[in-house]
Amino acid sequence: MKRDILLEKTEIFVKSILEGDSSGHDWWHIHRVRTLGLMIAKSEGADLFLVELAALLHDIDDWKLAGNGTEEQKAKNWLRSNSVEPQIIERISTIIEGVSFKGAGVNTSTNDLECKVLQDADRLDAIGAIGIARTFAYGGSRGRGIYDPGIPPEMHTDFENYKKSNAPTINHFYEKLLLLKDQMQTTSGRALAEQRHEFMLRFLDQFYTEWNVMECNGM
Ligand code: NI
Repeated sequence: MKRDILLEKTEIFVKSILEGDSSGHDWWHIHRVRTLGLMIAKSEGADLFLVELAALLHDIDDWKLAGNGTEEQKAKNWLRSNSVEPQIIERISTIIEGVSFKGAGVNTSTNDLECKVLQDADRLDAIGAIGIARTFAYGGSRGRGIYDPGIPPEMHTDFENYKKSNAPTINHFYEKLLLLKDQMQTTSGRALAEQRHEFMLRFLDQFYTEWNVMECNGM
């Protein structure tokens, strides 16, 4: 199958799976990651086809969305059913496998250029104004509160505990979002992360200012 036809078919397939999502992993997240990924891939000299295909498929088997043990199967099966060459399927699986954030203390750095590009694109969409919106949407979808001053953030050193965490969403800024800027793996990713990071700091400042008005007035 021609590469552009495969990409088109894959887009329709992924849309059909993620369209109704309200946890921040909807089709528009995929669309943004694809756009950011292609942008970064161009300036880093990465393979555009691999980055685009992996971007489209990177969340359909996500542990946050799928049940345990099903990781990567939907993406792999899709590529197999479209008779994609086994070497490409392997590359796509490796890239997707490397993308996910697994906790503050869990090292997910990689030497694979396409994986670096997609990781940066996915993480850029997790920070800044869009990142903030997505984080609260995700927290809500998991029944998490917004903020509780009595529950401090926790630095997870293993993936299992990170997955189980049920802390309020503001903690997630310290456990993940504010760490992402320094974990960017490409020059263009780092440059794009800077402004989004600053915006989150301003958001938190304003959040605590408003929160403290309550405390000062004894409420
Ligand atoms: Ni994603």
